[in-house]
Amino acid sequence: MSILIKNGRVVDPANQIDKVADVLVENGKIAKVAVNLKDQAETVIDASGKIVAPGLVDMHVHLREPGREDKETVCSGTAAAAKGGITTVLAMPNTTPAMDSPEHLVLLQGIIKRDARVKVLACGAITKSRLGEELTDIAALKNNGAVALSDDGASVDNDALMLEAFRQAKAAGLLTICHCEDKKLSGKGVINLGFNSTRLGLRGISKESEYARVKRDIMLAQEVGARVHIAHVSCRESVETIAQAKQQGVQVTCETAPHYFALTEDEIVDYDTNMKINPPLRTRQDVEAIKRGLKEGVIDAIASDHAPHTENEKDIEFERAEFGKIGLESDLVISIMELVEKNILDWPGLIKVMALNPARILGVDQGTLSPGKSADLIIVDPIKEFVLEKSKILSKSKNSPFIGRKVKGRVEYTLYEGKIVYQS
Ligand code: DOR
Ligand code: ZN
Repeated sequence: MSILIKNGRVVDPANQIDKVADVLVENGKIAKVAVNLKDQAETVIDASGKIVAPGLVDMHVHLREPGREDKETVCSGTAAAAKGGITTVLAMPNTTPAMDSPEHLVLLQGIIKRDARVKVLACGAITKSRLGEELTDIAALKNNGAVALSDDGASVDNDALMLEAFRQAKAAGLLTICHCEDKKLSGKGVINLGFNSTRLGLRGISKESEYARVKRDIMLAQEVGARVHIAHVSCRESVETIAQAKQQGVQVTCETAPHYFALTEDEIVDYDTNMKINPPLRTRQDVEAIKRGLKEGVIDAIASDHAPHTENEKDIEFERAEFGKIGLESDLVISIMELVEKNILDWPGLIKVMALNPARILGVDQGTLSPGKSADLIIVDPIKEFVLEKSKILSKSKNSPFIGRKVKGRVEYTLYEGKIVYQS
């Protein structure tokens, strides 16, 4: 099997490449990247005017399997990922059952082997059933394939338990991913606390509930010299806290999600539950801080926090609806629109935060087009305009706040391990 991709703009920040060149894929691997390759190949793709980049690495995805196959499955979620140009996902552990034991990880791995269209990495839980009460057997999770730990959807409230988790994660060589939320502060809130929560008559979630927990988790990780990754950063104060910690040499990384730079709380005008996300959409000032954080490199990665929910769980009163939105199929194009088109990041900068950095944070071999690496790559038409339509969504759930948006920048091909897994 060989594919020759001709004359695309190859963007590979790991190798400081940003130039028109050809890419030869052979036997599932990147064989060569060079100008004017003369090699013969079974398939030749003309990529003139297109971007050729490493497949994206999305380090925060809720695939819902096992347990909530009505929302999403490994099969449907990875098909959606391929369409969105994502070739590696980290599956978050808030499944039913949670990924809190070797047995559950083995179960998930069987499903992945059978159904996954792209690479699926597993994240183990920090505590049993994610209840924040008793630690999992962290070393055993690592030995059974977990590449990181998280109780995502919840934060571990008990300081002593979290400190011990960092200690054991460090000993096992695992990254801890923190969902930062102090429930004593966020309570029963459903949107950002402020003018809009008052206007809409909805309970608010303060920014303190996020950044106070960011501060605590950084402090505890620092205490034992463990690595810590802050998930879905949504507000200015969290960005500032992380910037300071980085300056002090703490081993902290973080991610944001496209909705935190593409939407503000002002857009929740008609109680659209697809805008109900945790942490919540914040203010214009927070959006500016997130963009600045991406530009200045304080924010290392963009992840979707793809959180599929059924219509039954979303098409109800705002306060009762589930938190979360889907993102696998729209995140690249939303990021192109908000960051590249608005000159916040250039193409290499975008690929860095969407592919290279998350791969490095997770310690996996993806995110580059270096010869010898798995041929996971995308071909994107950066000027193709289209409308995000509900009927085209491959994910089992359709809870996207971006339906109806006119966008620019379409994934034309996604290759995973040298095979075309998506073609527009
Ligand atoms: O909005 C969210 N949805 N935030 C989370 O932290 C969890 C996620 C989910 O699993 O639905
Ligand atoms: Zn979360």
